[in-house]
Amino acid sequence: MKIIGINGSPRLKGNSATLLDKALEGARAAGAETERVDLYPLNFKGCRSCFACKRKSPFYGKGCAMKDDATEVFERMLEADGWIFSSPLYLGHSASSMCAFLERLHFSYLHTYEGGRQRMPSLKKLYPSVFIYDLNGGPQFLEMMHLENACEYETMLFDHAFGPSRHTIITNTVQFEDYSKYYTAAVNVAAKMAWHEEHWPQDLANVFELGRTLVTGEYAKED
Ligand SMILES: Cc1cc2nc3c(=O)[nH]c(=O)nc-3n(C[C@H](O)[C@H](O)[C@H](O)COP(=O)(O)O)c2cc1C
Repeated sequence: MKIIGINGSPRLKGNSATLLDKALEGARAAGAETERVDLYPLNFKGCRSCFACKRKSPFYGKGCAMKDDATEVFERMLEADGWIFSSPLYLGHSASSMCAFLERLHFSYLHTYEGGRQRMPSLKKLYPSVFIYDLNGGPQFLEMMHLENACEYETMLFDHAFGPSRHTIITNTVQFEDYSKYYTAAVNVAAKMAWHEEHWPQDLANVFELGRTLVTGEYAKED
């Protein structure tokens, strides 16, 4: 079994990457082979709305017609058995690399425009997935801004198109080693550090478990 992890953060050693690595470690602990792909260094764009993937033609069901660095990643993902996506939340949604990547992957394998759980017939197996989101704000901010909805929506799209999908949201992340070097008046640094010390080990343990159960199938929802 092979699990591919997709990192949507430009920071290749940041929170999203660390969480992804831990989830992939969980997948390996359950016997999977893993690979991590960092999107930011790749040269690709979001959907150009050409609708080649929806044309009544022999190409239908064969994925995204655009050819760039994302193409080969999509191919490897289809050869794999499960996916883990990890991205910071920027302005209420996944970081732009992740958005661009998901637009192409999801939309090109969306069977119809009618919604529901109609999988693209060309997809011969289910691709279970995990989405990991992280953000600077705390749980109250998450709730106040209804950010859970955006994450839930992305997960639901993948649940419908590819296979059982789950997500987790990690709040109150630490972005700088030394906050005194930046204008961060809105951040209560002492409270953040205390939160981090208390919650981060559990956050890592939780994503490890998500990676592990992605492989064992324990988490799979009824389909
Ligand atoms: C462009 C940009 C936009 C951001 N927007 C938000 C936001 O709307 N809410 C929030 O809580 N954090 C926001 N953040 C903070 C990041 O989500 C947070 O620090 C995250 O853990 C960074 O992940 P990384 O270490 O993988 O880069 C933003 C950061 C950047 C760079």
